[in-house]
Amino acid sequence: MHRTAHRSTATEELQPIAPSKLAIEEVSKSFQSVSGTVLALDRISLNVAEGEFVCLVGASGCGKTTLLNIIAGLEKPDSGTVLADGNPVTGPGRERLVMFQEPALFPWLNVFGNVLFGLKLKPNLTRKDRHDVATYYLELVGLSRFERANIHELSGGMKQRVSLARALAPNPRVLLMDEPFAALDALTREQLYGDIQEIWQARRKTIVFVTHNVREAACLGDRVLLFSPHPGRIHEEFAVQLPRPRDINSVDLAAHATRITKALKSIGQAEAVAAK
Ligand SMILES: Nc1ncnc2c1ncn2[C@@H]1O[C@H](COP(=O)(O)OP(=O)(O)OP(=O)(O)O)[C@@H](O)[C@H]1O
Ligand SMILES: [Mg+2]
Repeated sequence: MHRTAHRSTATEELQPIAPSKLAIEEVSKSFQSVSGTVLALDRISLNVAEGEFVCLVGASGCGKTTLLNIIAGLEKPDSGTVLADGNPVTGPGRERLVMFQEPALFPWLNVFGNVLFGLKLKPNLTRKDRHDVATYYLELVGLSRFERANIHELSGGMKQRVSLARALAPNPRVLLMDEPFAALDALTREQLYGDIQEIWQARRKTIVFVTHNVREAACLGDRVLLFSPHPGRIHEEFAVQLPRPRDINSVDLAAHATRITKALKSIGQAEAVAAK
């Protein structure tokens, strides 16, 4: 029997997908501002393995968001290349999705509608399959009970869970997260650290995660890359080989965080340490 090759089902869609390998090669980016030219990134090179969790830390203005946007294909580097599985990134795509600090949700859609919206990137799914996929991800982030809620009725943590479900729903190979938990209280963040580690293991994603919080970086990352500003460079790299799931309050984790904090202080970035 001839089957149409492009038709996909919810069951297929929910299979874990192979995560991407990223190769960032000699990426530079500068911006013009009133006070002159800012070299936001200076020949950054970085490899991220399939399914790796990499955290970027560093003071404000050292180029973390710029790098994330370039990996996402939302911005173009002045020079250098980003390869995802060996293919140059030339623009945004559903293989690499971004989750921002402020949840960029649509207030005129309810929780379910916002997650469904992410699935517009998947035109090969039927309406019913899209619904099944959205239902699955809302359950994964623990929001099944709130699927009909309006966005303005949600707490900050719940909004970020909706953003996470929306980013996960099209089954990207890479998840790019720009300080997604920075605006949340400590308790909510702690719950999300547990959840994101579980989801990362269950859904097999390559994750690049930006944060100001050193403990958060040590809790989540296989590697923590410390950026130095003006020009933005990778100053030092720390491997965190602790078993998972990791508890943000564990003593072993604190030892890693202290090591990174010392390095931050040594390059005069004490303000980034603010472990909120
Ligand atoms: N669109 C832009 N126009 C002009 N300058 C920019 C632009 N985007 C970024 N920059 C500059 O590039 C540098 C890096 O900015 P970027 O936002 O990547 O830093 P960041 O590490 O994400 O900082 P933060 O921790 O505050 O989010 C900064 O000096 C910033 O002022
Ligand atoms: Mg930023």
